[in-house]
Amino acid sequence: MKLSLRLLFGSTVFLFVLYFVYSQLPPSYDLIQESELRASLGVEDRDSQKYVWFKQLQGAGFNNQVQEILLYHHLALLTDRVYLYQNLIWQRAPRHSPLPLSAFLSGVTNGTVTEALFSTVCTETKHLSLDRDNDALWNYTINVLSSAERCIAIDNHIINWSFLADASAMHAIWPSFKQYLSSTFKWSSQILEIAERARPAEPYMALHLRRGDFEGHCNGLASTQTGFTTWATLPELQDAVLPPKLELKNYTSVMEHCYPSLRRILDAIDSQARANPHVNTLHVLHDGSWDHPSVYIQYYKLEAAVKSASRILKAGWRGGPMKTVTHSGTLPLRSGESDWAVAVDVELARGANIFIGNGYSSLSTQIVALRLAKEGSRTQDITLL
Ligand SMILES: *[C@@H]1O[C@H](CO)[C@@H](O)[C@H](O)[C@H]1NC(C)=O
Ligand SMILES: *[C@@H]1O[C@H](CO)[C@@H](O)[C@H](O)[C@H]1NC(C)=O
Ligand SMILES: *[C@@H]1O[C@H](CO)[C@@H](O)[C@H](O)[C@H]1NC(C)=O
Ligand SMILES: *[C@@H]1O[C@H](CO)[C@@H](O)[C@H](O)[C@H]1NC(C)=O
Repeated sequence: MKLSLRLLFGSTVFLFVLYFVYSQLPPSYDLIQESELRASLGVEDRDSQKYVWFKQLQGAGFNNQVQEILLYHHLALLTDRVYLYQNLIWQRAPRHSPLPLSAFLSGVTNGTVTEALFSTVCTETKHLSLDRDNDALWNYTINVLSSAERCIAIDNHIINWSFLADASAMHAIWPSFKQYLSSTFKWSSQILEIAERARPAEPYMALHLRRGDFEGHCNGLASTQTGFTTWATLPELQDAVLPPKLELKNYTSVMEHCYPSLRRILDAIDSQARANPHVNTLHVLHDGSWDHPSVYIQYYKLEAAVKSASRILKAGWRGGPMKTVTHSGTLPLRSGESDWAVAVDVELARGANIFIGNGYSSLSTQIVALRLAKEGSRTQDITLL
């Protein structure tokens, strides 16, 4: 009896381990790399095209890389050059980075050429380093890239954090970047397919709960009196910021916007729920993981609060409480799909009826940009904490 119990226990553990290993297997990136090579070799008029390669950020978060890749691709299109795209080098995936870009951004890799063919398409390359003030950088780069030179490599990291943090430089490029996003941005078919599987059936609100390592980061930003990041500073979004107004000289004010209390997050949800009584589902994007377990505690508190009939009545909701609450950890991913989870979350938030995000987070502000680029988008459907 004892022996068979032990056998049963042993084989159960074995099956669990097997399942875990299997579900962590990467997708067939090799096949995707091969199809990138084939598509790049098939680009129209390959020999008469002009090309550009940019020095890019590697090894940072998914969104930090995507954000600048989209801007570089936009620069290439504006100057009639083929963008030589690079793999994603992702800090979260030490096991199997680099990852082929077309597995994520099919808008960027459609009609462009993989860096693996750089020396094949370009036998001679002009190497340049560009140095301009943030306000002049974009137009200067366009001028440089408009030259007749067939292949140009920009060897310094021009879209750096100093540029991205410069509100006036970012505002100046927004109208054309917004146009780029609505005409050219497209996720890979894998991401779109998982997002369709994951999308709530009912009208839904997406909330980006940025926690994890953010408290220390916010502390630093409050000390240096730093404001919202990238697109969150757009004038058209200033009414979307949950009061009281952000006061950079006031430490408490920066902390309240950058690392909002659950009370403040609930205020934002309540306010949107009062205005949108038909919205009955909430999806929470979060960064909870084994090293940030407290995020889950906060998530469960929020879930209980939006499902509590008595609390929402007091808060003035006219529709019922939230019927369904999902989060990043409940995405219906199949084996090998975990690399796509962040992008699927972004796509769910892009398509949500309502989005509540953090103006200090580049993930939130990327979502906001994608939403504003959608036809019929409304800024009142966005709240920045
Ligand atoms: C690639 O772009 C062309 C137009 O430029 C479009 O017709 C085609 O559908 C796109 N392919 C994919 C896979 O998005
Ligand atoms: C960002 O790039 C510009 C070149 O366009 C350079 O002048 C500036 O020093 C860089 N800033 C940082 C913080 O690296
Ligand atoms: C850049 O060029 C565009 C188009 O020529 C112009 O409208 C814009 O004002 C320029 N931006 C800056 C910051 O000089
Ligand atoms: C600083 O901001 C906090 C939070 O918004 C607010 O309660 C406080 O009154 C502000 N202090 C000053 C001096 O404005």
